[in-house]
Amino acid sequence: MSRTLPGRIWRSIYRQPFADEEREGARVINDSLLMHLHPVKLRRHGLSITYTFGLGGISFLLFIVLTVTGVLLMFQYLPTTEQAYADIQRLSGEVFLGQLLRNMHRWAAHAMVLAVFLHMCRAFFTGSYKPPRSFNWAVGVGLLVLTLLLSFTGYLLPWDQLAFWAITVGTNIAGYAPLVGRALRSFLLDGIVVGQGALLRFYVLHVVVLPLVLALLVGLHFWRVRKDGGISGPPLPGGGHE
Ligand code: HEM
Repeated sequence: MSRTLPGRIWRSIYRQPFADEEREGARVINDSLLMHLHPVKLRRHGLSITYTFGLGGISFLLFIVLTVTGVLLMFQYLPTTEQAYADIQRLSGEVFLGQLLRNMHRWAAHAMVLAVFLHMCRAFFTGSYKPPRSFNWAVGVGLLVLTLLLSFTGYLLPWDQLAFWAITVGTNIAGYAPLVGRALRSFLLDGIVVGQGALLRFYVLHVVVLPLVLALLVGLHFWRVRKDGGISGPPLPGGGHE
């Protein structure tokens, strides 16, 4: 038992003794909130960078970057037609590190779309969409749609000409979707033109609804990776997958 103050503080948070035996090590990891997020055991191929390229993890990391920079941007942005454009100009020109923050958010958003797409391609090419992982593939499709919707809703927020016309075109296209098109368009715009109602709806979808649903689905996705027996394996010599 450590007698120094830092040692005692550490012990009060992390109560497990050092484990030098395999079973005890597994128990320590399982009992810890942070460490149990990683599997206790991995198959060898799971450690190979070129099997997954870490693309799922990179997508998740980018989501965290987007959440942190997004929350910081919210301190400087008001979603009104009078204020939004001016706020973005102020952010880019006057606010300390504002331009950096804005660019980090924008580039992380582009990178996340790319990373999620490449992760999906990887899961396809390694045959990971097959049973028992077919449900997780469907969850992944939901994640892809949410990622794209987050990009789409964020596009209107700078309230400049590019944003205005892109969303006008985008919502017009959505309006032609079979059966639900008109209802979807009027739900998104809160009317028939891109105005204050649309800006508020896109803002709420972008900063609350979509990130929340995405975070919940990511939790389900990670849990399923575990329940499906860890990440898939390369084809076995006699045919089939792990
Ligand atoms: C926000 C988006 C996403 C995140 C954060 C995410 C995260 C992850 C992570 C961390 C893994 C573990 C293995 C790895 O890193 O490759 C994984 C596995 C998997 N993901 Fe995703 N994913 C996302 C989107 C998708 C999409 C769009 C699809 C497919 C449509 C998908 C399908 C799968 C499948 C099938 C597996 C199991 C792979 C295997 O066992 O080899 N995911 N995901």
